Amino acid sequence: MGRPIGPAAAAGVFCLLTVLPLVAVVVDGRGLPFDGGDFLRMSTDGGEDAVGTRWAVLIAGSAGYGNYRHQADVCHAYQIMKKGGLKDENIIVFMYDDIAYNEENPRPGVIINHPQGGDVYAGVPKDYVGDDVTVNNFFAVLLGNQSALTGGSGKVVNSGPNDHIFIFYSDHGGPGVLGMPTYPYLYADDLVDVLKKKHASGTFKSLVFYLEACESGSIFEGLLPEGLNIYATTASNAEESSWGTYCPGDTPGPPPEFDTCLGDLYSVAWMEDSDVHNLRTETLKQQYHLVKDRTSNQGTYYYGSHVMQFGDIDLNTEKLFFYIGSNPTNDNATFIEDNSLPSPSKAVNQRDADLLYFWNKFRKAPEGSPKKLKAQKLLFDVMAHRLHVDNSVELIGKLLFGSEKAPEVLKTIRPAGQPLADDWDCLKSMVRSFETHCGSLSQYGMKHMRSLANICNAGVKKEMMAEVSAQACVRVPPTPWSSVHRGFSA
Ligand SMILES: *[C@@H]1O[C@H](CO)[C@@H](O)[C@H](O)[C@H]1NC(C)=O
Ligand SMILES: *[C@@H]1O[C@H](CO)[C@@H](O)[C@H](O)[C@H]1NC(C)=O
Repeated sequence: MGRPIGPAAAAGVFCLLTVLPLVAVVVDGRGLPFDGGDFLRMSTDGGEDAVGTRWAVLIAGSAGYGNYRHQADVCHAYQIMKKGGLKDENIIVFMYDDIAYNEENPRPGVIINHPQGGDVYAGVPKDYVGDDVTVNNFFAVLLGNQSALTGGSGKVVNSGPNDHIFIFYSDHGGPGVLGMPTYPYLYADDLVDVLKKKHASGTFKSLVFYLEACESGSIFEGLLPEGLNIYATTASNAEESSWGTYCPGDTPGPPPEFDTCLGDLYSVAWMEDSDVHNLRTETLKQQYHLVKDRTSNQGTYYYGSHVMQFGDIDLNTEKLFFYIGSNPTNDNATFIEDNSLPSPSKAVNQRDADLLYFWNKFRKAPEGSPKKLKAQKLLFDVMAHRLHVDNSVELIGKLLFGSEKAPEVLKTIRPAGQPLADDWDCLKSMVRSFETHCGSLSQYGMKHMRSLANICNAGVKKEMMAEVSAQACVRVPPTPWSSVHRGFSA
């Protein structure tokens, strides 16, 4: 942390012309310590003018060994960017970084994202780690606003108008919300506002966003307009879980010494595809279809989720190469429509993956040992938290709408194309009221975001919500999951 960014290469004289719009942006009040070096250098690369600089922002929104898979996904993504030819100065990584040297990691210093896979941790830049993985820093990085950062390496997306930006986010989520290892969480309206701002600043040609999380479709549904030159795909639609993969008990599963899932279904689908194909010829659309097939168990939805596209769908005719480069080793690989990697026989939905992890820890601990007792407490804590959150939301619904009407109001799903909420400030105030009286929603509780949004959509005022939450929650379970000592999630 705290590393300065290396100075960029000297610019060719004829490129000074291309820097003019950027100077205008800086003078415009962004006040960035901008040195257009990357941009200029790429412009002199010959033949790559159309691409500009490729930028990647990779973020794992979780922490804890039970969430191994999200950071494994992000490390793997880094290796793809790197092999694709992106430079470290243009790849910005957010991860809590508590996995590689976690006492539970059977391979200290190593992270894998596939049962037979090699290390994906080596070389990953630690731009924003630990408590520097925040919504505020994520937005500051995207907007290229160095003065808004708190901690971290200081690397930001200092992009120019010809540049291509790729964002990959892997974590838990819920309707309208994405998790963070810190508080608050990331809300869909704020994210889309930042994307609009980035577009308005004229500092990219086009942007691709790959998103893995539960209910990830709800992040863009009815919110991301066309015309921003942004193309997004999500692991799931607005109303379903996304899935972990290479989990204990799956085929293929992790090596036996791992009690945790190694990856996520949608994430490994796009990455294992990118690992083997010539991305100079493969389009975003081709990859979308392969990933959609694999993530839905070849369209059966026996398990898995609906991979979705949002924003400027036409951008999907572009080559992946424009965003994430291509590994020269794959230059001769030809894209064959039906060579998608096989779906595993089984997968575990995101929300059950951590339960599975705590269960396995408990199951494997020797009978009567202190380890067993500790594992039992962890398992009971997570179950107590879940039960408490579920019951509290249900009771609040009944107090607000009556026991007959409540389930219908809380569970209503708006038609496709409509956002989760009309008033996001209301949703955030509902979250606060709930957490003030009932304790933290935590990663599991994000699943109730739709109910909280529906309470707003039904016109309930925040004073009413506070009153009812206080009635519903007389006791908060004394578990780390329910505690709000680290802050509110909104
Ligand atoms: C950058 O962030 C600072 C601090 O939050 C803020 O005052 C400033 O307006 C931001 N600059 C731009 C161009 O958004
Ligand atoms: C691709 O094929 C050409 C022609 O056969 C060969 O010269 C080149 O080494 C191959 N590249 C790779 C990366 O295999």
